[in-house]
Amino acid sequence: MWHKIIVVIALIGLIRAQDAVEKGKSLFNNNCAACHKLDQELVGPPLAQIGKRRTEEWFLKFVSNSQAFIQSGDAQAVAIYKKYNQQIMPPFPNLAQEDLKAIWAYLNSVSGVAPASSQPTSPKTTIYPGETSPMKAEEFNFLRHLYWILAGVAVIVALLIAVVINFASQKRASEAA
Ligand code: HEC
Repeated sequence: MWHKIIVVIALIGLIRAQDAVEKGKSLFNNNCAACHKLDQELVGPPLAQIGKRRTEEWFLKFVSNSQAFIQSGDAQAVAIYKKYNQQIMPPFPNLAQEDLKAIWAYLNSVSGVAPASSQPTSPKTTIYPGETSPMKAEEFNFLRHLYWILAGVAVIVALLIAVVINFASQKRASEAA
């Protein structure tokens, strides 16, 4: 019994995490993409894998009200503000902490690619083992999504089988009784 409950809880956790990432993606596209790209500078710095250089707490403070945070004297906030020629990133009072956490989850789920200037001139491609020609980024993303979908389907099928077996054994038990 317990192991089934654990499987279900893990599954719900997985789905909820995936939901947050999806929500974060649309929030990012609607509120941030005008000034931020994932992998290159735009008006502001690229934000993929932001968790590698900032803590979540720092991120929440900066995004809710960057100017207040900069004026509070936070060294990292002041430094990035100066680096970007004191351009003002607007505050986002309309975004709840949950929304910001979803954006954080999304930004850390996407892989960062070095800015174009430090990359060779060829388009973004990756060669995988067994491949002779480079794989296009879109193809790779498609496969990555497919992988997750298949993994999800496999888990659901396993759960269904568990439920059916459970049901059948209960039925047998009640018939025997
Ligand atoms: C109007 C343009 C603009 C918009 C919209 C904007 N930003 Fe920014 N952002 C900037 C600029 C410019 C900086 C550089 C720091 C500064 O000048 O304040 C920055 C810096 C940041 C940083 C610090 C990056 C680092 O390396 O420390 C984070 C995190 C960030 N933005 C997140 C967001 C998020 C999340 C959103 C959407 C909710 C958003 N920004 C929307 C312009 C913008």
